[in-house]
Amino acid sequence: MTRYKRKDPEITRRKFINAAMGGTVAVGGISLLSTLGTANPVFRLTRDKMPPLKGDVLVHAEESKEGQIIKVSELSDQLVRAWPMGKGEDGSNVIRKGDPNNILALFRFPKGQLVAPTNLEATVDGEIVAYSDVCTHAGCSVADSDQGDGMKCPCHSGQFDPKRGCIVTGGPPPRALAQLPVQLDGEQLVVSDFFLAMPYPYIAESEWESFKKEVEEQLA
Ligand code: FES
Repeated sequence: MTRYKRKDPEITRRKFINAAMGGTVAVGGISLLSTLGTANPVFRLTRDKMPPLKGDVLVHAEESKEGQIIKVSELSDQLVRAWPMGKGEDGSNVIRKGDPNNILALFRFPKGQLVAPTNLEATVDGEIVAYSDVCTHAGCSVADSDQGDGMKCPCHSGQFDPKRGCIVTGGPPPRALAQLPVQLDGEQLVVSDFFLAMPYPYIAESEWESFKKEVEEQLA
C-alpha cells in the first residue's frame, strides 16, 4: 500500500513560520521579521499543490486510469481514490497531485446508509460522499477494510467508518478523515467547497483556517 508522506516545501515553510512565531513569543523581543528575514515573505502555491477547490472535477487516482473523469456509475461501497483536477494559470487542466495529501476517497452507499455525523448537505443525494484518504495519525493512505466493515489504515490499523462521517472506530488516529463537499455537475463530480474540517497534516484549526485564507487571497 502506498504511503503518502508530506514533503511539500510550501507546507514545510508554513510550519517553519508557525514554529518561528512560537519561538518569537517564547524569547520575546525578537521580531518575526528578524527571525524569518525578508528574502521571500510571499506565500505562494503552484496550482498542482493547492488543496481541493470549489469547481474542481474529481478524476481517478489509480495509475491505470489516472486523470480520467470519475463516473457516478463507477462508485459503490468500495473505495475509489480520486484527485481533484482544476485549472492552471493558463487555463489548462491541472491534477492537484503535487501535494500527495490531496488524495481523496469516494464512496456511494444506498440511500439511508449515510448518517450523522456525515454532513449530508455536502454529499450527492445522500449517497455519494468524499473524504480525505490520508490518515490523521501519520499520513498513510487508508484502504477498504478487508473485513468489509469500513476503512482501515495499513500502517497502525486505524479504522474509520465512511457511513458515519469517517469517524475513528479503532486504532490511534486522533480524529475523523475530513469530509469534502461534492456535488454533481452533469455527469461530473465536482468539489463544492474546502474540506469541512482540517485534513492531515494540520493539527490546529487556526493553521488550517489561515491556509485557506492564504489560498483564497492567492486566487483572488
Ligand atoms: S498512519 Fe494510520 S493508523 Fe497510523
